[in-house]
Amino acid sequence: MSRRGLRADSTQFTLEGKPFRILGGSVHYFRVPRPYWRDRLLQMKACGLNTLTTYVPWNLHEPERGTFHFHDQLDLKSYIRLAAEMGLWVILRPGPYICAEWDLGGLPSWLLQDKDMQLRTTYPGFVNAVNLYFDKLIPTVKPLMFEEGGPIIAVQVENEYGSYAKDEEYMPFIRNCLQSRGVNELLMTSDNWEGLKYGGVAGALKTINFQRLSVGAIQHLADMQPQKPLLVMEYWSGWFDVWGEHHHVFHAEDMLAVVSELLSRGVSINLYMFHGGTNFGFMNGALDFGTYKPQVTSYDYDAPLSEAGDCTMKCQLLRNLFSQYHSEPLPQVPSPQERRAYEPVVMQQHLSLWDSLHFTDKPHRSEKALNMENLPVNNNNGQSYGYTLYETTVTSGGALNSMNNIRDRALVFVEREYVGCLDYKTQKVTLPEAKGERMLSFLVENCGRVNYGKALNDQRKGIVGDIVLNHSPLRGFNIFCLDMKPRFINRLTHTAQWKTDFRSLAVPGFLQARLNVDGSPRDTFIQMTGWGKGVVFVNGQNLGRYWFIGPQRFLYLPGHWLRSGENQIILFEEQRTNGEVVFTENADHGKTIDVYKLPFCTLL
Ligand code: GLA
Repeated sequence: MSRRGLRADSTQFTLEGKPFRILGGSVHYFRVPRPYWRDRLLQMKACGLNTLTTYVPWNLHEPERGTFHFHDQLDLKSYIRLAAEMGLWVILRPGPYICAEWDLGGLPSWLLQDKDMQLRTTYPGFVNAVNLYFDKLIPTVKPLMFEEGGPIIAVQVENEYGSYAKDEEYMPFIRNCLQSRGVNELLMTSDNWEGLKYGGVAGALKTINFQRLSVGAIQHLADMQPQKPLLVMEYWSGWFDVWGEHHHVFHAEDMLAVVSELLSRGVSINLYMFHGGTNFGFMNGALDFGTYKPQVTSYDYDAPLSEAGDCTMKCQLLRNLFSQYHSEPLPQVPSPQERRAYEPVVMQQHLSLWDSLHFTDKPHRSEKALNMENLPVNNNNGQSYGYTLYETTVTSGGALNSMNNIRDRALVFVEREYVGCLDYKTQKVTLPEAKGERMLSFLVENCGRVNYGKALNDQRKGIVGDIVLNHSPLRGFNIFCLDMKPRFINRLTHTAQWKTDFRSLAVPGFLQARLNVDGSPRDTFIQMTGWGKGVVFVNGQNLGRYWFIGPQRFLYLPGHWLRSGENQIILFEEQRTNGEVVFTENADHGKTIDVYKLPFCTLL
């Protein structure tokens, strides 16, 4: 007899033929080191949740066209199986666009090599790429669908398409992509209040995303879709942060009041996020509603489970509340992971950016500056993330104007001496006069592609057009890809060129220290006080970016990436150094702001 999966045939969900209420939580496997998956899902169970929801990031699973990764940290199948083992149901959100404060909303940057690309539409170049990706992804997860005995009870079609809505044929295309590959479970769409109008697709249940209840959102959903169960697919338990602003907090009591109200009205809910985790590496996204604002490395989100996995006050309050909706007592809360504040370590060696260039791949020669995505690197998939160095020669000083063609931020050097910084606000730098040919360099950082809004097609990075000196466009570039992948960091590690005399220290550059760990490694936070802006690598793992402007002034270092004995810490620092690296047991989130004090529209 075939088992009956999740159904939405009346005002109540049913699962296996019985009334069912979704008490869900989002945890993204790609934001949590794999050895911690189990702990985070156990915490979910202990909090009283019954369903795990996760996005699937296309840009990690297919980093180069036709090259797929579904193993180690990206072993989606094992993650879903683990959820099943814990007794959690799964709602899968495979995108292909996922938003999620993730570079380009999860879309691979190589899509932008096509200058006419129309992301999230039925433009043939996009459709073909989605088809090839779904040909890999869907058969991977198909055996884990409910009808096959697995935990996946529903699948989301795209993500908040109503807020983009550029092509009426697009949502039916994505729905068909799923169904034609054998997805028979309940389909859902997910939109905010405004987006609900255009976000749905025939055959999929509409759900809503919000944080406040005051605006009658639930009634709005019920009116749009009478005689259907109500689900808040993203109940925002907190909020994300951008560089240069405050850390968002959403007070536990304010959140609890809304969640209690929703439950008492019989609504199903998914906490976005239950546990946010970390944007390790260069994977953070950005916002741009007129001003470009890249997101920070931490994705703590002020969620019930903190970035390092602590069960916060929110988590405890929710556990009390959710326990009333279970007939059995909830499992024990797992004991907290121990953390350690290791002794500070002193920087021992340094290597300037200029000396590190021997360890990059051969530079590319081009008359005009090429954007990152179109560089002939990574098997012609272009450069996706990190820094690109553009060098050319000039024979005069004068007025350098970026014409707003820098994405997103460039340090400018003449003869490798720093002369200024270009970004969206500062588009002019004066180059000093001198005789003869001189080298002009731009170290351009891709600070993260926008993940939300209508500007997705404009997310090419690096130098994206002409830069002029005294009104003449610069030509004749040497372009170095500095995506700082493990291969490059590994080459750096093994060179004898590191210097120990700190009188010759030059930034930008790499600095190295050793951390000795006695006994079993524990989680810790690296406190970045005194440092300027850069990236930290521990034993080759990219922990992400830091920046003195905050709000985040630390980086989460999972103990699992340390080993007992000697550990290597490499910093890439752009502007100002400190002699040491300090560790702390707790994260200092810097200045905070209460999300209830923000204008409502910022949360849409
Ligand atoms: C929307 C998106 C999510 C995320 C949240 C904000 O609801 O669907 O992916 O970006 O906003 O955290």
